[in-house]
Parts: sequence; C-alpha cells; structure tokens
Amino acid sequence: MEMSLVDRWICGAEVALRTLSGGSRAERATPTAPAGAAAPELSAEEKRLSGALMRVNHVGEVCAQALYQAQAVATSDAGLKAQMARAAREEVDHLAWTEQRLGELGDRPSLLNPLWYGGAFLIGLAAGRLGDRVSLGFVVETERQVERHLESHLERLPAADLASRAIVAQMRSDEAEHAVAARLAGGIDLPAPVRGAMRLAARVMTGTAHYV
Ligand SMILES: [Fe+2]
Ligand SMILES: [Fe+2]
Repeated sequence: MEMSLVDRWICGAEVALRTLSGGSRAERATPTAPAGAAAPELSAEEKRLSGALMRVNHVGEVCAQALYQAQAVATSDAGLKAQMARAAREEVDHLAWTEQRLGELGDRPSLLNPLWYGGAFLIGLAAGRLGDRVSLGFVVETERQVERHLESHLERLPAADLASRAIVAQMRSDEAEHAVAARLAGGIDLPAPVRGAMRLAARVMTGTAHYV
C-alpha cells in the first residue's frame, strides 16, 4: 500500500526516536569470538580505548540510520526504497550490537547523537534530491569509507578485546556488501572533492565522538 507523506514522516520520526533512545533490536545474533578462544580480562586502559572506539562506531550506525531513512524518503523508486530498507535493517543490527558492547564495556553512547542524526538526515535528503544515481553513489562512497574506517579499528582495538573485534569484523563485511549492492544498483562515482569533503566531515565526527 502506498504511504502518504504524513505516514512516511511519522515512520521516519519513529525510526529517529528508536535510534536515539537505545531501543533498537538486532535480528541477527551478536557476532562472537570463535568457539574455544580464551577471553582475557581487559585492563581499565583497554576498556577505555575499546569504549571510545565502539562509541565512534555506534555514532556511525546512528548516522547510517539517518542516511538510509532520508534516502528512502527522497526516492520515488519502489525497488530502491526496498533496497535502502534492507540495508537499513542490517544497520539496525550494527546499532544494537555496538550499543550492547558499549554497555558491556561500562561506557556510553555519544551525547551528541541527536545532532549526528539530524546532520546525517539532512545530508541524506540533499543526496536524495540529486537523483537516485547520485544518491546511490553517495551510499557507495560512504560504505567504502566506513569499511576502511572499521579496518583501522581492527588494528587499534586491544588484541584481547575479542568481543568488540568480532562485532567490528562482521560490520566491515556487511558494509562492503552494502557498497557493492549500491554500486550494482547504479551508483555513480562521486567527484574527488566531494569524496574529500566526506572524509573531512567523517574525521570531525569520529574525532569528536571518541570523547563526547
Ligand atoms: Fe553499519
Ligand atoms: Fe552499511
């Protein structure tokens, strides 16, 4: 059934509230370290570092919800809407896993999440306005950058933090698939200055979320 504009905005508001209130539930089980792997106790220092990195990753997933939501609202292509919704569901898993891990580490999500969500939503809407191929190109580039970023976290996370590492590794492979799917759906390559601006914005966001 076709949703009215009001219905769509109500759905969007519901997703925003769920994302920001910590009420997200994963459909897939939380990735865990291979069976039989010893789980060493983390030092206070290691916990702090893992907490900061997982907070950054949680912010990334808050932004992913906003971006996919905004782009699903912006497109009139039913197939593309469905694809965005599918990817957004996997991003909900990421959101729930990182949130759960933050709790286990005795840490908290970013205090600025409403701000990140709002900003990412506006950027997603703007990308959506430029047409589906640009919008998909934006998804391709975002997911590729996130994949590289998660790769760097696998190098920085404490070797002993097997639980966080298992989550980040699964997220990295999901993001790579999201990029491929958006590419196959017709996403174009964005110009280098746009990609550079996106990297810069991501650096500001990750740098801030490490602490706040
Ligand atoms: Fe994700
Ligand atoms: Fe993704």
